[in-house]
Amino acid sequence: MKRIGIFYGSTTGNTGSIAKKIASVLDADLYNIADNNINKMNDYNNIIIGASTWCYGDLQDDWETYIGELANIDLSNKKIAFFGLGDSEVYPDTFVDAIGIIYSKIESQQCKIVGQIDRENYNFNESLAIKNGKFIGLALDEDNESHLSEPRLNKWIENLSLEF
Ligand SMILES: Cc1cc2nc3c(=O)[nH]c(=O)nc-3n(C[C@H](O)[C@H](O)[C@H](O)COP(=O)(O)O)c2cc1C
Repeated sequence: MKRIGIFYGSTTGNTGSIAKKIASVLDADLYNIADNNINKMNDYNNIIIGASTWCYGDLQDDWETYIGELANIDLSNKKIAFFGLGDSEVYPDTFVDAIGIIYSKIESQQCKIVGQIDRENYNFNESLAIKNGKFIGLALDEDNESHLSEPRLNKWIENLSLEF
């Protein structure tokens, strides 16, 4: 397995604590993008992007600040996985939208998206993170379904480690 870099933005710490768990299992390097380090993506062929969704389908603040920088990074031939934190009960129409927004900024580059998951076993109405009937990455709801996070995470990491 090649080196993995995890790049996340987190406002109240939920995405950060999941990012730390992923980093410890996959032995990955961890970057909180609030530290203005997105350009470190250049150093990795395997990248994990984590973001929470805020204010009815908006990017988390640090992603809002730095998302434009993705256009300056050559992501072609890199493998990219997403994980998103959201609240499917209070925001069922914009559940984990942020990772869908980030995906839309990079989809034209020739990168390979890995780690898509089935939408079954989630209760929500709409999400920008659904492409071709699947979540583009792992969706977690720490607000209402924190008991499901660990099994969801373990299964996702197991599949991901076969892809990286
Ligand atoms: C004001 C507010 C707006 C939110 N908007 C959304 C939303 O549109 N979609 C969603 O899935 N979650 C939404 N959430 C839930 C957060 O994404 C969720 O609590 C997440 O775990 C926060 O992660 P973080 O601590 O890493 O920022 C919102 C939460 C708050 C407090």
